Amino acid sequence: MTSAPPRIDIDRLVRRLMELGEIGAIAGTTGCSRLALTDDDRAGRDLVRTWMDELGLDITTDGIGNVVATMSGFDPSITPVMTGSHIDTVATGGRYDGNLGVLAGLEVIETVLTSGIELDRPLAVGWFTDEEGARFPPDMLGSLVYVGGMPLEEALEITDADGLSVGDELDRIGYRGAGPTPGRVPHSYVELHIEQGPVLEDEDITIGVVEGVQGISWTELTLTGQSCHAGTTPMRLRHDPAFVAADITTFVRDLTTEFGGAQVATVGAVTLTPNLVNVVASTATMTVDLRNTDDAILQQVETRFRGHVARAAEREGVGVETRTLARFEPVDFDRRVIDLVEACAAERGLTSKRMPSGAGHDAQMFARVCPTAMIFTKSVNGISHNVTEFTAPDDLEAGANVLLDVMLRLTREDFA
Ligand code: GLV
Ligand code: MN
Ligand code: MN
Repeated sequence: MTSAPPRIDIDRLVRRLMELGEIGAIAGTTGCSRLALTDDDRAGRDLVRTWMDELGLDITTDGIGNVVATMSGFDPSITPVMTGSHIDTVATGGRYDGNLGVLAGLEVIETVLTSGIELDRPLAVGWFTDEEGARFPPDMLGSLVYVGGMPLEEALEITDADGLSVGDELDRIGYRGAGPTPGRVPHSYVELHIEQGPVLEDEDITIGVVEGVQGISWTELTLTGQSCHAGTTPMRLRHDPAFVAADITTFVRDLTTEFGGAQVATVGAVTLTPNLVNVVASTATMTVDLRNTDDAILQQVETRFRGHVARAAEREGVGVETRTLARFEPVDFDRRVIDLVEACAAERGLTSKRMPSGAGHDAQMFARVCPTAMIFTKSVNGISHNVTEFTAPDDLEAGANVLLDVMLRLTREDFA
């Protein structure tokens, strides 16, 4: 007689998601705001670390504040199967983005520990600092440093809009640890995340089998013109950075129509100074987020964008400074781990679909160093980075059970 496969405890997982979501909760909504290395981020970290402690896991905090908890009692030479994600959020975030991956990882480990399953290789769950990049660009900063993609010293010097540095803020919240960076390379990595888009819901499919992540290009532009009186200055004599910002916004939108397919473009932040009704602005700072699954096309779009910025600024007699905030090439996940996710979904009787990720994820950094893939679960109305973000418990449960199965199977994989 074969015993039933183990199952995660969905009530415990939802309870933890809601408890963590109370930290930084946005009044009157189910959303939350825990920007990286703020007091609320610290409170969220402390809570999740308590849960890790209660399971008796070996916990390491590294120099960029990544926290990894590994099952104890194994020969130190045996590398773990790792899962994880992030617990920082954007300022208008929900309770699932990133948090699900961390708490589902914890849930998988607790399920394994309490069901007495014997493993040849430990499981580990981590959270990685500043995945969102909303406070300290680039995004995926912690996992980038973990895999050796950026020296720790460089990351510690990154500043937020108020000039506060990653290093100082880590010290302030007590999360600059002694663990090494780059971190220990795991045997393999698999991450559960909400889809954050509408495809699974639209096609009524339970599990997304993520084949890779699209390329990401973030640019900050500072446009400097001549501030003057809105009533008295003839239009032909103006050097208006607000006008140039609007022109660039329209241009990148038109580029997506021209290139079609997977090309997306977003102007997510525009700040005018002095930002008054009757004053032509002196400066406009704006961000442009360009993404595509095809790096060659993304490069063409970047070239067209840069050319237009120079021309639009020159036409208006406005100065322009350009800063690259993030640039990551598209990533392909490991075929063997992708196949495993698909097989485990099928064995649970769940519908699945292979798909790319439109959002950036810590998994794309781990793909540089070990066999990696991801599991997606539905997002209601495809909404994320928004306080209404929601995934139904049945979908959370399906995703976490697939994560459990994939991690158990990975402990027996020999990727040599
Ligand atoms: C990270 O959430 C991103 O912007 O994709
Ligand atoms: Mn995320
Ligand atoms: Mn996010």
